[in-house]
Amino acid sequence: MTVGSVLVTGGCGYIGSFTALALLEAGYKVVIVDNLLNSSEETINRIELISGKRPEFYNVDIRKEEDFDKVFKAHPDIDSVIHFAALKAVGESGEIPLEYYRTNVYGTICLLSSMTRHNVSNIVFSSSATVYGDATRFENMIPIPEHCPIGPTNPYGRTKATNEAIITDHVEAQRNNLKKQGKKGEHWNAALLRYFNPAGAHPSGVMGEDPQGVPYNLLPLLAQVAIGKREKLLVFGDDYASKDGTAIRDYIHILDLAKGHLVALNYLRDHHPGVKAWNLGTGKGSTVFDMIKAFSDAVGRSLPYEVVGRRAGDVLDLTANPTRANKELGWKAERTLYDACEDLWRWTENNPQGYRQSPPQELLDK
Ligand code: NAD
Ligand code: WQD
Repeated sequence: MTVGSVLVTGGCGYIGSFTALALLEAGYKVVIVDNLLNSSEETINRIELISGKRPEFYNVDIRKEEDFDKVFKAHPDIDSVIHFAALKAVGESGEIPLEYYRTNVYGTICLLSSMTRHNVSNIVFSSSATVYGDATRFENMIPIPEHCPIGPTNPYGRTKATNEAIITDHVEAQRNNLKKQGKKGEHWNAALLRYFNPAGAHPSGVMGEDPQGVPYNLLPLLAQVAIGKREKLLVFGDDYASKDGTAIRDYIHILDLAKGHLVALNYLRDHHPGVKAWNLGTGKGSTVFDMIKAFSDAVGRSLPYEVVGRRAGDVLDLTANPTRANKELGWKAERTLYDACEDLWRWTENNPQGYRQSPPQELLDK
């Protein structure tokens, strides 16, 4: 199989940068577009540092369709897209929903339109476990399989569910149109990847999550407590129906998640399945207290926390059933929670200012 170039939107961000790295390591050429709203161009240097290969980078806003056209024209060997670029803060999405729809939904329409004009017909889309909403409202849906009815409970989640529908409609329409013209319709394919909770960093200590502004996810917040930027972690509720009263999530190592994109892309190129959704998770649920313990072990000391009330919109349990990805994609999360915590701590200790500061020389020399 020939490997072409892959366009990675949002490739300077957390998951996009690790996926770009995995693609380069697998022999793909990578073109990144990102407007650096929640990331830094330094990511490109770190990807090159680890892989020895430099992705092409364009500062592009995904809401500008004509800018996509320029990139596709400049790189006619692009045959697939992995689409990460989005706004992703659940709370903020309730405050400025139109901005979320404009970036996440309109930006995706711009991308699909430009792809269509340039005959680029494979897309891997960053969906989210958040599309399921509260799966405990059904019997026997934990761990959550892909056939669990979706029901997002916030505007961010609704942008993801809307994009899943738009991509599905467009791919089906394109396949039908191509068939009517007597052409091979199976060229249009989409993977809807529903990720659970990404965690961790690169084991080298030179690549990790570098959110601009205040983080809102559990592990980046715990890392800030450990490095002294935050006094304590606030635990949102200990009155859930779990073993210790705190909520359950499925934390997946970022390297495993990145690999999931690579295998999904290869599957689209080899099997032409049309549109398919896959959960990317470990299948193992961990509570907030499990995570505090695991991260404290990685740091080597206990970390201060205080239990406060539940966070609005949180659900008891979001644990994946990853069987479909295990069987169809031959993919399985291999790294443990402890790997994720150790890697996150190595990244945090060595890069307290994220990508705004060079990592220590000894890491660069390795
Ligand atoms: P991130 O914020 O680190 O990466 C997103 C990237 O998109 C950033 O580099 C940002 O600068 C870029 N971007 C935002 N608006 C843009 C625009 N208008 N034009 C061009 N680029 C733009 O986020 P992430 O955690 O890497 O998430 C990547 C994708 O995965 C997102 O679609 C997110 O919704 C989805 N997702 C994330 C998680 C998670 O917990 N991190 C879970 C499930 C799904
Ligand atoms: C994890 C657990 C909190 C912070 C979010 C999005 C989801 C997906 C992943 C994009 C929960 C608890 C957290 C804190 C806490 N993103 N917590 N104190 O909410 O599972 O998922 O990110 O698609 O869509 O909703 O992740 O890391 O915010 O929370 O106790 O200060 O940690 O209540 O149980 P969440 P999270």
